Amino acid sequence: MRGIILAGGSGTRLHPITKAVSKHLLPVFDKPMVYYPLSVLMLAGVRDILLISTPNDLSLFERLLGTGEELGIRISYAEQPSPRGIADAFIIGADFIGSDAVALILGDNIFYGQGLGAILQAEAAVKSPCTLFGYRVQDPGRYGVATVTKSGVVTKIEEKPARPKSNMAITGLYLYGPDVVSKARTLTPSSRGELEITDLNNLYVARGEAKLVEFGRGMAWLDTGTHESLIEASNFVRILQHRQGVFIACLEEVAFRMGYIDRAQLAALGRGLLKSVYGDYLLSLAEISAKESRANTSPDKIEAVWG
Ligand code: TTP
Repeated sequence: MRGIILAGGSGTRLHPITKAVSKHLLPVFDKPMVYYPLSVLMLAGVRDILLISTPNDLSLFERLLGTGEELGIRISYAEQPSPRGIADAFIIGADFIGSDAVALILGDNIFYGQGLGAILQAEAAVKSPCTLFGYRVQDPGRYGVATVTKSGVVTKIEEKPARPKSNMAITGLYLYGPDVVSKARTLTPSSRGELEITDLNNLYVARGEAKLVEFGRGMAWLDTGTHESLIEASNFVRILQHRQGVFIACLEEVAFRMGYIDRAQLAALGRGLLKSVYGDYLLSLAEISAKESRANTSPDKIEAVWG
């Protein structure tokens, strides 16, 4: 499975902060926002990733993340000339997707919780035509809202309904088979001029091919599109990291835990970030791992967090 991070858009709700720079490069506590969705794809076992952003911002992402080689993954980059909608990702990414399945994640969505990696890996292995992830929220009217049968088949999706039929919001993480490209090409822009992800998903719903996997209460799903939600997300990350002593969405750590890089590579990445708490953390992980392997004990204290 390949992965796409959609990190363009206009970020108007965060103006003036986002007048000069993409919101996905803003900090969520101690790391850039884009680390969070990237870590989710990596946990899902996806190592071939396309990052889509605006012509203005793309080079900044490249400076931040490079080719991905240091993390044992491949990151390529593509421009979205204007915010033509979320489903446009599949048209831009058509060649990248080829005949593979693809996971799309919105660059401003944060997911965190026990077993997240295992859930995503299991769903990716099923290879359904369309898998959506739902999350119960208090204010479903801000999102695409799904009606779902007991067995998880989506029968209806309404975009930002005035009277939501359920509180099941569709999150910004989607898995599709390779035919998503041809389906996206049949869409026409909505009244706001965008290729709507809800219209795309409804093509699968009409065929009974859209499945919804609910993220339960053990999972956190945060979005970061407003000033309030951005600082709330930062506080969430700060509190959990401080309390538990483990980092959320630390890419180098995920790469290490997933076996994409080895301990020596992890330590080298930590040394490159010396003087920051983040670099210290990487070095301490490498040291703990070295001690554990010397003592020949079994894995790491935080493996449970990621399942
Ligand atoms: P939105 O929150 O719908 O839009 P936005 O980020 O431009 O923000 P605002 O509403 O404040 O103007 O976008 C959701 C995510 O999808 C976000 O990470 C940006 C991304 N996106 C694109 O990359 N291209 C697009 O054409 C659209 C519509 C969104």
